[in-house]
Amino acid sequence: MSVKNLVVMSTGRGKEKKSMIGIIGAMSVEMEAIKGLMDNKQDTVISGITFTTGQIHGKDVVAAVCGIGKVFAGMCTQTMILKFAPKQIINVGVAGTLTKDLGIADIAIADNMVEHDMDTSAIGDPVGLISGINIIEIPCDEALVSTIENCVKSLSFNTKRGTIASGDQFVADKAKKEYIVNQFGAIACEMEGAAIGQVCYVNKVPFAVIRAISDSADNQSHMDYPEFVKIASANSTKVMEKLITML
Ligand code: ADE
Repeated sequence: MSVKNLVVMSTGRGKEKKSMIGIIGAMSVEMEAIKGLMDNKQDTVISGITFTTGQIHGKDVVAAVCGIGKVFAGMCTQTMILKFAPKQIINVGVAGTLTKDLGIADIAIADNMVEHDMDTSAIGDPVGLISGINIIEIPCDEALVSTIENCVKSLSFNTKRGTIASGDQFVADKAKKEYIVNQFGAIACEMEGAAIGQVCYVNKVPFAVIRAISDSADNQSHMDYPEFVKIASANSTKVMEKLITML
């Protein structure tokens, strides 16, 4: 399904100086340590989402825990853009691995994001096409991605760049995992990054996604995830803290 005569509305933002780094994580476990690094913290609650502003290593930051899934992620991102005008948005957190090259606690960096549960193929579209913007892969900001790669390598984490797939499903099934790999060539799966990317793309805000691996997205996941989510979150925080000094 293609949308013709799409009207692109402005966000209404003026020419204000954009200085804040926006950081979004889905869960408290992924964000509490990052918020713990902030000086001069101030909370603003909008639609049930708490946006915390402050400084990390002297850099202005707005951080939010969006909640799980694409809808909360989209809401949070649009609100962050309208209310705080961040110069860029970075999504951090954990993910299931879809490649042998990434094991538990390694770092997946997105070159682009896909929505693995977006499917209007029954009416003639390619699987994964996001109607309206009419692309399958939402590109991350290239300069930001290469800074992230340098940052991750400087911390000596094992890492891989590629497509990360989002969908409203915790992937814990070999067949589903294989489907996402075969259909999209993705290296990791999670539940928010592409929604954040879609909103950033529409608003022309540079974005990136950094995910530490918490599980293998297969029949072992329900065992791995509770055991490894904390160590994976700690690694994504380490990357974010160093990255802030490089932006
Ligand atoms: N986040 C962490 N692991 C995940 C998985 N296996 N599926 C979806 N989101 C995840």
